[in-house]
Amino acid sequence: MAATIKTASEIEKMRFAGKLASEVLNMIGEHVVKGATTEHLDRLCHNYIVDVQGCIPAPLHYGNPPFPKSVCTSVNHVICHGIPSDKKLKDGDIVNIDVTVIKDGYHGDTSKMFVVGKPSIMAERLIKVTQECLYKGIALVRPGARLGDIGHVIQTHAQHHNYSVVQEYCGHGIGATFHEDPQVVHYGQPNTGEEIVAGMCFTIEPMINAGKRHSKMLPDKWTVVTKDRSLSAQWEHTLLVTETGVEILTHRDDETIPRIINHS
Ligand code: MF3
Ligand code: CO
Ligand code: CO
Repeated sequence: MAATIKTASEIEKMRFAGKLASEVLNMIGEHVVKGATTEHLDRLCHNYIVDVQGCIPAPLHYGNPPFPKSVCTSVNHVICHGIPSDKKLKDGDIVNIDVTVIKDGYHGDTSKMFVVGKPSIMAERLIKVTQECLYKGIALVRPGARLGDIGHVIQTHAQHHNYSVVQEYCGHGIGATFHEDPQVVHYGQPNTGEEIVAGMCFTIEPMINAGKRHSKMLPDKWTVVTKDRSLSAQWEHTLLVTETGVEILTHRDDETIPRIINHS
């Protein structure tokens, strides 16, 4: 199926869902500390999403086997889809928290990296370069550009720093459905792939490894780790393609990239 083009009223709902998802990441930051369990972080996010925001946490019971928690918490060598557990965070851990809320039938999907105490220079550098990969991808989003342009700039930046790009998981169209067309891969060649059109909504969510790109799924059928146990980082935003560029629907105030990029 082709990517759906959102109507004005759908865009309003996507904007609101995106804003709410970003606010969950704002809320949880101060709780990501040494000794906290990822299960505790999940509970805080769940209660905030359900009781404060009046939203549905999209991951809960999603897929097969059903995802058992309300957010994904991916620590250190976990690439994505980490299941919150009773394991305590320790000094130097790096954690991706991936939040997806459903409000009024529409999805907002975003993740960011948190550090516990003082991370290593290596971890800090991986986190920074991965965010730069996301930002470089976002900066290319506009009608007439192609998805391969985005993949290419991400892959080029990651490899320039001797990092690798995970290929088995990708960004995705999003709307009334959590994961819809198109697939937004984080590698590729310029001037290839689907053309980007105003009114499309999709995520960019690069997963970048300090070591080799290969991943392995754990027996729980969700947790994805680096095969070589190297560190992995990820950042994600939900985007709306506008007539002149892009609007970051899950933008936070702590970011260096503007919420709206207008190329005209
Ligand atoms: N939020 C993830 C994404 O960015 C998907 C998580 S699916 C789950 O697409 F079931 F693990 F939550
Ligand atoms: Co996503
Ligand atoms: Co996500």
